Amino acid sequence: MTVSERGAIEARQAYESSRKGPPEGFPQLPDIPGDRYVDPAFNALEKTHMWHKSWVYAIHADQVPEPGSYVQWDKLGEPLFFIRGEDGEVRCFYNTCRHRGAPVVTEASGKSRGVTCQYHGWTYNTRGS
Ligand code: FES
Repeated sequence: MTVSERGAIEARQAYESSRKGPPEGFPQLPDIPGDRYVDPAFNALEKTHMWHKSWVYAIHADQVPEPGSYVQWDKLGEPLFFIRGEDGEVRCFYNTCRHRGAPVVTEASGKSRGVTCQYHGWTYNTRGS
């Protein structure tokens, strides 16, 4: 990055930090109807056409701070959990057992060397094996 590119970025940041409204010349847009935030049909459209097709922020790495720390996550209707491996990597898995599909994690969060299905006792390590 050149000095002038950096200067341009810093000037843009200063401008964005200082403005108290839309930028000059920005078109007047209609207000967003309030029910859009609670309409189940609109929520379903968003899930189908937006959230299932883009990167989604799910958890912060601090929520699984140590090897074996896990947290369930189902905000998009899929039963998932994140777990930090012994190697320090955070991985995400479907919260379903490969045997008969029972959940392998039942607590909202916790810490374990691996996970064990409560149904027939299949166990998985933090890499999913
Ligand atoms: S369903 Fe998980 S061990 Fe059978």
